[in-house]
Amino acid sequence: MFTPLDNNILQEIAHTYGTPVYVYHAEKIADQFQQLTTAFTGVNARFFYACKALTNISVLKYIRSLGCNIDCSSINEVHIALKAGFEPTNILYTSNGIAFEEIQTAVELGVNINIDSLSNLEKFGKSYGPNYPVGIRLLPNIMAGGNLKISTGHENSKFGIPIYQLNQILALLKKYELCITGLHIHTGSEIKDVDVFMKVADIFFELAPHFPDLVFLDMGGGFKVPYKENEQGTDINLLAKKVEAILHKFDETYGKKFQVWFEPGKFLVSEAGNLIAQVNVLKTNANLNFAGVNSGFNHLIRPMFYDAYHQITNISNTKASIKEYTVVGNICETDTFAWNRPLPEVREGDLLVFHNAGAYGFEMGSNYNARFLPAQVLYKDNQAHLIRKRDELADLYRNQIELD
Ligand code: LLP
Repeated sequence: MFTPLDNNILQEIAHTYGTPVYVYHAEKIADQFQQLTTAFTGVNARFFYACKALTNISVLKYIRSLGCNIDCSSINEVHIALKAGFEPTNILYTSNGIAFEEIQTAVELGVNINIDSLSNLEKFGKSYGPNYPVGIRLLPNIMAGGNLKISTGHENSKFGIPIYQLNQILALLKKYELCITGLHIHTGSEIKDVDVFMKVADIFFELAPHFPDLVFLDMGGGFKVPYKENEQGTDINLLAKKVEAILHKFDETYGKKFQVWFEPGKFLVSEAGNLIAQVNVLKTNANLNFAGVNSGFNHLIRPMFYDAYHQITNISNTKASIKEYTVVGNICETDTFAWNRPLPEVREGDLLVFHNAGAYGFEMGSNYNARFLPAQVLYKDNQAHLIRKRDELADLYRNQIELD
């Protein structure tokens, strides 16, 4: 059974590698993957880790070692996945808004591809006809996800080919004798309601007879993980049961057994990651007690960008009495991690841990204010492994061309 990293280990890592530092707990990633595979034992399911959440190559190698496949959202992610040792057949490239050249490269590399526009599907048909199996990403007109910025299935979304353009898809299928092996729908991130996936399955059910070569139904990612204490995530077991039932219905109606593909990002790595930062400054302005840390939205943008809640713990002073702090970063603009957050008394020098920082934390980081990106550490087999060095000044100059 999985046990979370204790404060002593986190303190030791902060001491050894400095702060701010990202720490990922390998066992937690394995535990999450196992929850999925256990829940879906009765289903012919394949899981593709949506690596946009966290692309560090050592993490990817670890995820590969678990037997998980990988989903990429850019050709560079495909290259990184190959470098991490994934077989091309275990790589999925779910493209959006990309130049056709990237699709050509993906074909040369031999990976699975989901195409998300009629225009690229037409180019694909012209170039490859029936010779390269392909999936298509559909826009279902389903509103789902934690907030509008991470909802991708509604009618005004840029993603996918709208299902009402089915006739145009079918015209291309016929014209180029396309071998469409997969249908893909990803409706958003942080979807708690299992029935959203069932709505997607209903759409697949309607569409399946139009695609004679169909092999897989790809429901995307988007499982919700708990961010707050006592919050519930997506009920994976319930989802698996419902998917099993609907696959049965496909089989009964069409006499075909389909594979179901999923592309979990957050579910696999969010809770496994912590960002540790140190308190630089305490100050009281008006009625607010500010705790200013040596990090900012350049390292974890989710609170500022999505109003996301990240649990914070003070691992240097766990038993002190509780006070309220507005926890801010050191970026030279408003840069708030949390407003009026109750925490055990915070002192300058204390270490604060931001939880659920494994997904879209480091990955969405930047060098804004010419700050360094943090180091990354993978805690695996009871040992901390440095998997990315903290930036240094030379990294900030890299690629710049200095004119006289
Ligand atoms: N598949 C596709 C096609 C996607 O676009 C995404 C995420 C996923 C899978 C994985 O979704 P997940 O299981 O991680 O929810 N930066 C935002 C999340 C953006 C998600 C983008 N697409 C955040 O930090 O909340």
